[in-house]
Amino acid sequence: MGSIAKVGDIRLKELVFATNNAYKAAEVSKLLAGKYKILTLKDIGCGVDIPETGSTFEDNAALKSLYVVTHYHLDCFGDDSGLEVEALNNAPGIYSARYSGNRSDQGNMSLLLNNMEGIEHRSARFRTVISLNLNNKNFFFEGMVSGTIRKEAIGEQGFGYDPVFEPLGHDRTFAQMSTNEKNEISHRAIAMKKLIAFLKDHAGF
Ligand code: IMP
Repeated sequence: MGSIAKVGDIRLKELVFATNNAYKAAEVSKLLAGKYKILTLKDIGCGVDIPETGSTFEDNAALKSLYVVTHYHLDCFGDDSGLEVEALNNAPGIYSARYSGNRSDQGNMSLLLNNMEGIEHRSARFRTVISLNLNNKNFFFEGMVSGTIRKEAIGEQGFGYDPVFEPLGHDRTFAQMSTNEKNEISHRAIAMKKLIAFLKDHAGF
């Protein structure tokens, strides 16, 4: 007797997201839910911390996607994101993850707040650049969200600088928002929506 295909049996297309950050993978999986199955570096057995030796977000995002294509021959996208603070000449920028010398969110935020002590101009923005490597061609997508740096950290959600970043038009920080709420407005969500629109047009999405 033949089997009846159920909705649950539909195989989703797989796309590697060159990241080890579980929060980011969860954010992106939600945005692509039911459309693509996102595999992380861990899922494909890649234990390498891909070197981010570029001098721009674009360079670093492309290094990540190219690494997976070269070593695993799988379609892949990689992102690079960071916080740019106007009064600090756009620091920490590409150095956001290790601003304080190690990968401590707490240490990075403390250093940022120290460096901004006495500064009233607190405009900043998060930027994300995604590099998609599809059929050996590279495409870039960018997302940005503007806001201000709070004088004190507040909120428990998210990661990185979320507790000190208040997006424009809101009176709460990213860390006081649910993942869904952040996904409506975040730099990564904006870049991801551009990626999704592109996949719809070019990959029979
Ligand atoms: P990545 O290179 O995309 O992993 O991002 C570099 C660093 O930028 C992270 O380690 C965080 O410190 C910061 N960052 C990027 N996106 C966000 C965000 O959505 N919220 C808070 N911090 C972020």
